[in-house]
Order: sequence, then C-alpha cells, then structure tokens
Amino acid sequence: MSTSTGLSKDKNWWRQAAVYQIYPRSFADSNGDGIGDLKGVTSRIPYLKSLSIDAVWLSPFYPSALVDGGYDVDDYRNVDPKLGTLADFDEMLAELHKVGIRVYVDIVPNHSSNLHVWFKEAIASEPGSKARSRYLFRDGRGANGELPPTDWVSHFAPSAWTHESAMGGKHNQWYMHWFAPEQPDFNWDNREVHDEFLKTLKFWADRGVDAFRIDVAHALKKDLSEPLRNLNVFEGLEERGNKGKGILADRDELFAIYKEWRKLFNQYDPPRVAVAEANVHTERVPLYASTKTLGQCFDFKFLDTPFEAAVYKEAVQDALKAATKNKSTCTWALSNHDQIRHATKMGLNPAVDRRSWMLSDGTSHPLDKASGTQNGLAATLFVLALPGATYMYQGEELGLHEVTDIPGDQIQDPQYLRNHKIDKGRDGCRVPLPWTKSGPSFGFGTGGAHLPQPNWFGDYSVEVEEKDSQSPLAIYRKALELRKGLTTEEKVKWHKTGNSSVLHFSRPNGWHCITNFRAAPIAMPKGKLLISSHPLQDGKIAAGTTVWFKKK
Ligand code: BGC
Repeated sequence: MSTSTGLSKDKNWWRQAAVYQIYPRSFADSNGDGIGDLKGVTSRIPYLKSLSIDAVWLSPFYPSALVDGGYDVDDYRNVDPKLGTLADFDEMLAELHKVGIRVYVDIVPNHSSNLHVWFKEAIASEPGSKARSRYLFRDGRGANGELPPTDWVSHFAPSAWTHESAMGGKHNQWYMHWFAPEQPDFNWDNREVHDEFLKTLKFWADRGVDAFRIDVAHALKKDLSEPLRNLNVFEGLEERGNKGKGILADRDELFAIYKEWRKLFNQYDPPRVAVAEANVHTERVPLYASTKTLGQCFDFKFLDTPFEAAVYKEAVQDALKAATKNKSTCTWALSNHDQIRHATKMGLNPAVDRRSWMLSDGTSHPLDKASGTQNGLAATLFVLALPGATYMYQGEELGLHEVTDIPGDQIQDPQYLRNHKIDKGRDGCRVPLPWTKSGPSFGFGTGGAHLPQPNWFGDYSVEVEEKDSQSPLAIYRKALELRKGLTTEEKVKWHKTGNSSVLHFSRPNGWHCITNFRAAPIAMPKGKLLISSHPLQDGKIAAGTTVWFKKK
C-alpha cells in the first residue's frame, strides 16, 4: 500500500491545480490486449511528469462489463482484471506520488452495474425485501403492471424503467435507471447505501488517493414518493433550472450526504478533495462546492461556449463570482470524455448543429482542422492564465481531433447504441492515444486498439510532436511549466482593449494574458513575451492567438 510520498501537506494544493484526465482504457496498453491498463499508466509517468501537471484524474478502472465505458461499476473497491490489479494500482499511485503528481479517482454513486453483487441479490429477492430496497424497484402501471411506473426517460434509452424480467427477475416489478438498463440507480433513502459509499471512499483514501471526482453528483436523491408523477416533458432529465425543486435531480437533501463525506475527507492530512460533476443551474453550484460539502464543482460553460470574446468574458466573470461566494475555486475544462474534442468544435462553423454533423459524412460543413487546433490552443492558454484549477483531457495536449468515422458496428458507447439515429455518441474522443507515428496501434500498445484509430493519428502522435517546437504538445508543456510561476492570488484585472474581439487581463504579479479571438492582427504591447499559442505575425497577435507577457 502506498503511503510514503514526496508530496507536500499543503491543504490548498487543489485550488490552482492543473489536472490531467486519463481515460484508462485508451491511454496506454501494457499487455497488448488492445485495452489500456494501469501498468500502461505507470509506464508513461515520465510523459505525465513532462507535462508539469499537479494531478491526474482516472476515469473508472473498476471491474465492469464496460457497458458504459466503466461507469457501470461491478465492484467499487477493486480493479478490473482487464486493467490490472490492486497491486498495480498501488504501484501506479506510489510512482505518481514520487514525482509529485496527485491522484483523483472517479466515484460513481448514482448507480452501480447490473452485475454488482447487490443488484444480483435484489433481482433474486422478493418485492419489499431488504435487498430490493437498495435500488429503486416499483410496480408498473396498467391492469397487469405491464407499463413502466412513469413516463421518465433515461439518458441512453427510451425509458428510465426496465422490467426486471430483462435481468432475469421473476417478479413483476420495474427498476429505475437514469442511464442504461445495465446501470440501476441506488436508493439513497437507504442508510446501507450511505455506509457502503463511506466505506468505498475510505478504502481509496486510506490507500493514498488524494481526491475524488463525483459522477452525476446532483442525481443521488430523488423524490419517488407515491403516487409517482409523470413529467410529460422531460427535457434534459429536468436537470438544470429546477434549483432544488426537481423530482429527480439537484435536491436539497443531497447536501447532508456530502456533509458526511466532508467529515471523512477532513480526517486526512491533507484533507481529501472532491469535485462534483453536477450539471445544475449556476446559482446552485456553490452548494456542491462549499467547504462543508464537496469543495469544488465542475463548470461546464466552456465545454459549449463558442470561441468568442464576449461569451468567454461573461463565463469567466460568472465563475469567479460563484467561486468567491463559496470560497472554492473555478474549474476550467474545455474537453472531457463525454465531449466532442474541442479542437474539432472550434474548427467548425459555430452555426453548425454538431450532433447532425457528427452523423453526416462532414462534407456539407468541412472541418478546418488547423484553425480548430489553433483556436483550441488559444483557448487553453486563456484558461490556464486564470485563477482556479484547469482540467485537461488526455490527447488535448496533442491538439487531437474527434474521430468521426468509427463504423457503427464498432461503436461501444450506449449513447449511440440506444440513440443511433440521432447521436453518434462519445467514442470519437475515446480512441486510444497515438504515441508513435506508426507501428501497431501507434504505440498505444503492442497489439491493436479497442476502437479503430484513423490513419491521420500518427501525425498527432507524441513522437511527431516532440520533434516540433511549435506543436500543441510543445506549447502545452511550456505553458504548464510557466504556469507554476503564476501567482496563487486569485484575482483578475480586466484591461480595456478597444476591440470587441480581444480580451486582456492581468494577475496581481504583473502577468498579462491577451487573446485575439477573431480580430485583425493587433500590436503586441511592450513587455517580456513569455509564450504565444501561435507564432506572432510580423510582431503582431493574429486571430486565434493567446499571448502571456510580463510588463517590464
Ligand atoms: C459520465 C459519463 C457516464 C455517466 C453515467 C457521466 O456524467 O461522465 O461518461 O456515461 O455519468 O455514469
């Protein structure tokens, strides 16, 4: 078990952290079976160290049938044999700690998988039993209970209810699931569920895990009191905008759970840290990010904000205001494993409906790959200069684009499998990383890759980009290294630019950041240029460029 580390005891390490998200199945494969694994992560620690990051966040690596990429967990306190062993985990953690990189693990408390021992027990038990009360079983409507209890829909399927017979149950009940039928939702009105998750959090914290990312943190508590209510219009699973009044999400009772978790986190030195994935109204974010609950909450604005000055500024101002209110810090993210890669979003005309584009052959609205990569880098330097933590998704440091042409029969994502006519799903950002220009699976492993890698991947490989001082990788490395010299004082001063497409802010230690979004080239102010996301043109900052400089 890993205990001795070279890490500081600074309890505020997370406030300005640069966190790199690893999607373990697609990062590095050590045994040639086509699936990334924990030993693969350990083997790439020198690369992670070269990025000057403070922490890695590992998406789930627990035993799972991978119906939803590991977010269907069979056993919360173990490692999937396809990805390694607990001993591999301990070794990886110890080696990461040795080089000063902390570790977030993903906790999935809203649902387990249908293969979790509790669910198997529930399906085999009587209605009303203790085993069933850990999940959300209900009788159906209709003369013989043949209709689902309500009209609720799930993220991945037409109905949020599945009849138990689909899972081998012999009674006539239905169970609820926000996601796939293989992801039954827990009943958080049952104390046993609380105790089980406290045990899981303690298990990982005792092993030395520094922090937790809490999956769908806004959904644990639901109002399933009788009579159940139909929602008729069930847009976005009524997630946003309900401000505590929803039936299925963002309910006030949630915070008692997170207060109890906080007590556990604070028993460690430094206290364990958590970040909520909660897709809620901005006004509600402080409740999740409070020092009494989880401490930090993802801000998803930048995932969908067009690369435009006014909206970027507004997003930053809102986030800073919220962070000050709750004594937390901002969480900047341009990409993650659920999103079309941001280089691709930014290389498309913003008016294009990306969902339909992803399902098309792309020719009606061609992707401008170069400008997408360039704008993506400018956006990255913009967020990295701000106070707060930045969460980066594996491959964005290579300027990787979405893989849009995975054949339907090779797609694994339930978002596609269950909605294939309207949604291409998320596999396009989950294709195994290219490490080398050529060779089997572009250096991902010695065998193949569990999702097909396109021919162009080699040009975005670590091997190719390491040889190019202007590559996205080179810019990320330099920016992340420079960022260590940025002040930790969490203030931003905006400067007038006289141009609606240019933003300029500075930090209290005289560090300035200018982004030219779409304007004609602008003059570079006097000062010491620290980095430019794109080379200056005749000494000027062109559109799609961010520069950092210090006033002399
Ligand atoms: C994760 C997704 C996952 C879902 C269900 C999300 O928020 O990020 O990848 O499909 O939770 O667990």
